[in-house]
Order: sequence, then C-alpha cells, then structure tokens
Amino acid sequence: NEGSLWGGRFASGPSPELQALSRSTHFDWQLTPYDLAGSRAHANALHRAGLLTDADHAELLRGLEVLGERYAAGDLRPSHTDEDVHGALERLLLDEVGTEVGGRLRAGRSRNDQVATLFRAYLRDHARSISALLLDLVDVLAGKAEAHLEVVMPGRTHLQHAQPVLLAHHLLAHAWPLLRDVGRLRDWDARVADDSPYGSGALAGQTLGLDPLAVAAELGFSGSSANSIDGTSARDFAAEFAFVTAQVGVDLSRLAEEVILWTTREFDFARLHDSWSTGSSIMPQKKNPDIAELARGKAGRLIGNLAGLMATLKGLPLAYNRDLQEDKEPVFDSVETLELLLPAVTGMVATLTFNVERMAELAPQGFSLATDVAEWLVREGVPFRDAHELAGACVRRCEELGCDLPDLTDDQLAAVSPALTPDVRAVLTVSGSVASRSGRGGTAPVRVGEQLDELRSASADH
Ligand code: ARG
Repeated sequence: NEGSLWGGRFASGPSPELQALSRSTHFDWQLTPYDLAGSRAHANALHRAGLLTDADHAELLRGLEVLGERYAAGDLRPSHTDEDVHGALERLLLDEVGTEVGGRLRAGRSRNDQVATLFRAYLRDHARSISALLLDLVDVLAGKAEAHLEVVMPGRTHLQHAQPVLLAHHLLAHAWPLLRDVGRLRDWDARVADDSPYGSGALAGQTLGLDPLAVAAELGFSGSSANSIDGTSARDFAAEFAFVTAQVGVDLSRLAEEVILWTTREFDFARLHDSWSTGSSIMPQKKNPDIAELARGKAGRLIGNLAGLMATLKGLPLAYNRDLQEDKEPVFDSVETLELLLPAVTGMVATLTFNVERMAELAPQGFSLATDVAEWLVREGVPFRDAHELAGACVRRCEELGCDLPDLTDDQLAAVSPALTPDVRAVLTVSGSVASRSGRGGTAPVRVGEQLDELRSASADH
C-alpha cells in the first residue's frame, strides 16, 4: 500500500470503499503550512534530543522547505491514495529526501497530537483575520454614528414605538456586541495558546526525551498540554471557536434584520447603495437587501456548524477516536463563511444612507413621549405610580381626540390632572426627551459622544 503510514501487520491494503470514506485531504490539505511548521519544530526537537545527526536534521529541514515552497507555488498535491494531509506530506517528504532520512521524522509523534496542534494553529491565524474584519465593521458603524450624532429616530421595544433615541445610539448598540466578539476571540486565543498538544503522542505521551515546551514555543504557543490524553482528545477549543463564530453570525443577523426592515417601503428609514443590493429578474422596480438576507441566512449555517460539532463530541470516550476527523469541516466552513460575509456586511453598512427626515417625523409618534410626561410629574413631586396613570390617561385622551401628546391643549392637559401645567411642554419635544436621558449609557447627545470615544478607544485596544 504505497504511501500508507502503516502496513506491517496487514496482509492486504484498504478497500477502495474504506479509502474513499477515510480520505480527508479534500478539506485538510489547507493545513499543509501548519503541518510543515509542526514537522520543522519536531525535527528540531529530535535533533536536540540526539536522535537526528546534524546532516539528517539539515536534510529534513531542506526537504520541508522545498515542500513549503512547492505548496506556496500551487505545485504540491495529495494523491488519491493519501488518507490525510499528514500522510500525504510524509509521502512527499520521503520522495524529496529519501526513505532513510525521511523515515526518521515520525519518531515520537502521532497524527493524534499532530492534528490537535495544527488545528489550533490554523484557528489562531483565522481568529486574527476574523477579528480584523470585525474591527472594520465596528469602525464603519462608529463612523456612521459620528456622522449622525444629531439624528433622532423612534426607539422600539416589541417592535412598537417606545421612546425616541439617537440614530447614533442605535448604531453603536450594534457595534458593542461585535467588539465583545473580538474580545471573545482574544480570550479564546489566550486559552488555546497555553496548550500545544505536541508531545502527547497517540495518547500516553512520548518516550524519546523530546521537549514539548520547546516545540510549543517554536509554534507560537506559550504552554504545552499538561495531560496527553486531554491534549489529543479535547476539542472544546474547536467548539468554543465555533460558538464565537455562531455568535458573530447572530450579531450580524440582528443588524441585517434591521437593514431589511429599514429599507422597506413602510419603514423607509434607509436606502441601500446600488452596488450593495440586487434587482429582480421579473420585477423591474425591485431593489433587494440580499447581503442582509444572506447574513441572516448564514447565521443559521454557523449555528448548525456549532450544533453539529457538539453532537459529534458528546458521546466520545477518551482518548482519540476517528469521529474527531469530523471536527474540521464545520469549523473550516464557519471560518470561510465569516471571511466572506463580514466584508460584504461592512460594505453594505458603509454605503447605507438614512432618511433622517422620516426618522425625525416618526420619532414622537406612537405616544413615545409618554414616559417623559410621567418622569416630569415625578420631578414635580407626584409618586411614579400616579404619574404613570396620568400619562396613560393623556394617551387615552389623545386616542379619543385622534391627536398626539404635544397636540393636547393646556385645558385638555389640566382636565386630566391639575398637576399637568403647561410647563410639561418642555419635555414634549423629541430633542428635550433625548437630551434628558443623560445618565451614563443614555441616549443624550453628550453621552452618545462620550460613548463613541469609549468605543473607539476600546477597539483601539484590540
Ligand atoms: N486525519 C485524522 C483527523 O483529522 C488524524 C489522523 C488520526 N488517525 C488515526 N487513525 N489515529 O483527526
């Protein structure tokens, strides 16, 4: 069985059906640079332990270098008999340096500790690229907020008008979760960096006096697995990564849902740029928010990847089981999905324009200043329970009259309660309402300006 990593105890090679089922090169081939880096560090460890002569060590490094160059040039391919990236690269290394020297590299390691390390290294790189893409979107949201610091809009709960807010406040409310996702990736990385499984062997550790910490350091990890069984069988690092990507998907989906609503004829709060929206093959007038819809759709896919991986892991006894080969595709897919999706969402948001007149016109509608009336009464000494009743009575009166709160005359207000003097009009404007929410975290323009600075300095820390 040419190119196989075993054979001594087998009288015949694997059936084609087994080979077809077993093969993972179509998805794990992209781990090649990480596998080569691991092999380099491993060769150095063997050399330091006195298990490789200077000449063999140099020859192995040369061979690994050649494979790396060929991979970068697109000139290195697995064959259909290779089971996985590790086996394929060993075969290709043997072709390059001969079986005598090449055959020494596998000593003291197993594909089990190898793959557990490489998968971590791959994810650490992509955590960094996804973080950078997230920070781009945070930056665009912050820029949009800054450009609309004076714009008011109806704030909603239950999708019903609730209280007026600044558009900037609302946009920043989408930026903070994305910034927390960047923090999640950073926390995840610190946990993973502590744990290079190289040296765990197949499950029980290695006998050859290799130094796992030196290998770890060479691969950019600060520590190595304290337990070789855990090192080879744990995949919580992959599940946690898949969770963070699913959370990013959910955060993008909630933003996307609002873009979809806001660009409807009924809302008419925002317009999409032509280059970031699509048309219809039959309806000439259509302008569709496809990026937002794909963001919402792909959130389901990201959640599915997490759920699928967790289902794969839940019943596995220690240590390595072949089921674990199923860990990579869902997580690779989550990485590829976000690396495709985030730049599109960022471009869509960057080019979104707002119908600020429409937002301002709707901001006071739906009795959204009723809380302001109640809180004004509280400041006048009325217990909140009564104030709430009186403001509610004003709303009921408006509904009878078919008008909005600021339209009530002084007499109509006084008829609801003598406490409702004409001075209440001070809070019956959107700008007065918004400015009065001036506690930390509130929507008052002065607080939102501070919030923007706070967001920018937090994102500069990443
Ligand atoms: N390709 C496998 C994986 O992705 C690693 C190989 C371990 N296989 C084995 N029979 N011990 O998990």
